[in-house]
Amino acid sequence: MAWMFSSLLQVSLFCLAISGVSVSGATFSPVLPPSYPLAVRNPYLSAWVPGNQVANLATATPQFWQGQNLTWSVLARVGGTTYKLFGAPAALSSSVAATLMSAEYTSSHSVFTLAARDVATFTLDFFSPVSPKNYVRQSLPFSYLTVSVDAKTASKVQIYSDIDETWTGQSGATVSTFTKSGGVTLFQLSVNGAVQYSENARSQALWGQTILGAKASTGITITHGSGTPSAIRAEFASNGSLSNAAPAFATGNVVAISQGLGSITSGSVTFGIGYVREAAINYLGNARTGYYRAQYPDTLSALSFFFDDYADALSESKTSDSLLVQKAVAAAGTNYSDILLLTTRQAYGGSDLTIPNDTLNTSDIMVFLKEISSDGNVNTLDVLFPAFPIWYVMSPEYLRFLLEPILQYLETGRWKQPFAIHDIGTHYPNATGHDDQVEEDMPVEESGNLILLAYAYITATGNTAWGQDYLSIFTKYADYLVTGGLNEPVQLATNDCCGPLANQTNLAIKAAIALNAYGKLFGAENYSSVGLSFANQLFTNGLGLDSAKTHFKLQYGSNVTYGKDSDYAVVFNIFPDILFNLGTFPSSAFDMLASYYPTQQGQAGVPLDSRVDWSSTFWTHWAGAAGAKQTGGVEVRDMFIDNVWAFMTNGMNTPPFSDRWFAVPGSGGLIGGTGDVVGAFDTWRNRPVVGGHFAVLALDGPGQF
Ligand SMILES: *[C@@H]1O[C@H](CO)[C@@H](O)[C@H](O)[C@H]1NC(C)=O
Ligand SMILES: *[C@@H]1O[C@H](CO)[C@@H](O)[C@H](O)[C@H]1NC(C)=O
Ligand SMILES: *[C@@H]1O[C@H](CO)[C@@H](O)[C@H](O)[C@H]1NC(C)=O
Ligand SMILES: *[C@@H]1O[C@H](CO)[C@@H](O)[C@H](O)[C@H]1NC(C)=O
Ligand SMILES: *[C@@H]1O[C@H](CO)[C@@H](O)[C@H](O)[C@H]1NC(C)=O
Ligand SMILES: *[C@@H]1O[C@H](CO)[C@@H](O)[C@H](O)[C@H]1NC(C)=O
Ligand SMILES: *[C@@H]1O[C@H](CO)[C@@H](O)[C@H](O)[C@H]1NC(C)=O
Ligand SMILES: *[C@@H]1O[C@H](CO)[C@@H](O)[C@H](O)[C@H]1NC(C)=O
Ligand SMILES: *[C@@H]1O[C@H](CO)[C@@H](O)[C@H](O)[C@H]1NC(C)=O
Repeated sequence: MAWMFSSLLQVSLFCLAISGVSVSGATFSPVLPPSYPLAVRNPYLSAWVPGNQVANLATATPQFWQGQNLTWSVLARVGGTTYKLFGAPAALSSSVAATLMSAEYTSSHSVFTLAARDVATFTLDFFSPVSPKNYVRQSLPFSYLTVSVDAKTASKVQIYSDIDETWTGQSGATVSTFTKSGGVTLFQLSVNGAVQYSENARSQALWGQTILGAKASTGITITHGSGTPSAIRAEFASNGSLSNAAPAFATGNVVAISQGLGSITSGSVTFGIGYVREAAINYLGNARTGYYRAQYPDTLSALSFFFDDYADALSESKTSDSLLVQKAVAAAGTNYSDILLLTTRQAYGGSDLTIPNDTLNTSDIMVFLKEISSDGNVNTLDVLFPAFPIWYVMSPEYLRFLLEPILQYLETGRWKQPFAIHDIGTHYPNATGHDDQVEEDMPVEESGNLILLAYAYITATGNTAWGQDYLSIFTKYADYLVTGGLNEPVQLATNDCCGPLANQTNLAIKAAIALNAYGKLFGAENYSSVGLSFANQLFTNGLGLDSAKTHFKLQYGSNVTYGKDSDYAVVFNIFPDILFNLGTFPSSAFDMLASYYPTQQGQAGVPLDSRVDWSSTFWTHWAGAAGAKQTGGVEVRDMFIDNVWAFMTNGMNTPPFSDRWFAVPGSGGLIGGTGDVVGAFDTWRNRPVVGGHFAVLALDGPGQF
């Protein structure tokens, strides 16, 4: 399949060239995204570089996901001349900015190739492994930066990287420690006296340690230094090495590592960058730590292993990167593949894979997910639900690891409502529950989500015993849906920005499917019949339809605001009916949707419902996947995918993959300001919900990797 990959790449490069995205002669494959992931592994290790800066990579400024600048520079010296490769300030006397030749992203690498005059070519490979079945590898809070060089003639080459306290979340209180042991060179920066589990105002963790490290290997001379950036960079530029001094850290300083390759024509060096939290998560008052700590209980041993694991991690990534391209292209073409490759690190990078900090019991795995950007809630059920297709496709066990902390909390009885909880903590990393019963209630939404996620996990893995363990919880929420799933009091659903409403058609569709799923999962046909009767009323009897029966309205009932024929909703909740082949809704419902959605296509997409001017990248993937097997459904699926691709590549945006954009001009109505710019992203960045882009691929079945 390799031939397929490369010929498709050429096609999309050709498209780029004609659409003018080729900047200053560099090529971008598969496309130029809004932002490139550099070190993206968990909610607190999330460094990116905006796409509009990479043409000048040598002086680009990387950012934390929320947009604040990070200092992270890379310099190289060839035969005595210093070249700026990345993140290096304009003013470094007598140095030469290398020129970008190409930029590429895969699902785990962002790779930049630069020319240092005609003397050498450098490749910077920012590699954040996505290895959800290798729990040690996945939980390590580090990323690789490998710098490779090809020189025209044998020359002395040295490569340098530095960082500063922009990574610690609080300047002015930084403590630096330096360790050289077992071949590992390690700087750790932390905030003196930081409060455990606290964040700064821009979402950076304060209580851990930022690390920059390297490991000795044959033929490479490692030196280190710390001081003002001008002094340390000048020292590297003039001497090609650092003085091995690590004085007390002062604000404004950098810590730096240089690796000398000797006289060579080609070679490479690797740096590790990371953010370590021993107490990673506060789960109901108990500290949980990274899974890796069962084997590597301290930062030095973990980092040493991380370097030793490089070849295996690289080989795994090459296999899964190309498998993903192959599967995505086969499922829905190159636009789809381009989207999934940019999605993967962000989706897995929203979570931490943990075990208890005290027992380090590796059978007690829990994954915690941060509702990044929207509010910081922990394991929000209506974030797990939209994101679940990525785990379903790549690592179904994750579904259990994500649900365990919720279910174990519900089992304590401390959550007293008759419906499922929204999340298990108001702000990551404090998964402390809601004993006060105060949270953002979404009764039908979360009750349906929990049942459908359990259905996804159990059917993907065959672990029916687990379903029995929590049967009473699932039954309680199924009973809630029987009562409240069709005659729905005013309540919020997942698009909470739009306010609470009664009788939301899309929500009732979820209730119907969840009840049928519960019935099938636990052999309780009477629940399935309630689900089928909801579906029958909503669709066949037309309760949820407009009078001409062309689409589902936003609301149904006699006393609702958005129940007019012109009101519609993209009913993404219908997708699990197709994915799980439940048959809750007849095939004609999906035919109707396939005919309807194209009629709502606006300037840059289909607004998510008739109130709003924006669309959602992941929910429209769900809607596209739902109809993909119907007549006309492939065209609708591709319309939704192409809309997201156009948004991702329109050159108007620079944050990490935003999942919401303005699809039509704002009308100044309820939700749709007149200043909204069509094609621009709307507020959110780096949310793990993008995992929902895997919905189309999920149709090929669970556990494909
Ligand atoms: C962040 O970096 C950009 C690009 O180098 C620069 O223009 C901007 O002023 C920086 N912002 C701050 C707050 O330092
Ligand atoms: C987590 O809880 C601790 C202890 O109550 C608090 O100090 C910290 O600020 C909280 N973290 C966040 C991000 O809210
Ligand atoms: C280069 O190394 C020499 C000898 O170690 C040292 O005296 C000198 O200060 C270094 N140069 C710079 C610019 O730091
Ligand atoms: C986590 O475990 C380590 C090693 O046993 C211990 O030193 C540390 O205090 C623990 N942290 C918390 C917050 O319990
Ligand atoms: C480890 O965790 C598993 C799963 O929670 C539990 O069944 C087992 O008893 C635990 N083992 C120990 C030694 O605590
Ligand atoms: C389904 O049948 C079971 C067993 O008889 C009963 O406990 C449950 O209440 C019934 N549920 C519904 C929705 O009919
Ligand atoms: C919601 O739908 C139910 C069932 O059709 C209906 O009885 C109820 O009146 C509707 N509520 C509103 C506010 O229209
Ligand atoms: C219609 O809904 C409004 C707002 O929810 C409510 O105040 C009113 O009593 C309802 N009218 C009827 C006839 O149910
Ligand atoms: C990708 O999407 C764009 C923009 O919507 C569309 O013009 C193009 O034809 C699509 N490319 C492929 C290969 O489907």
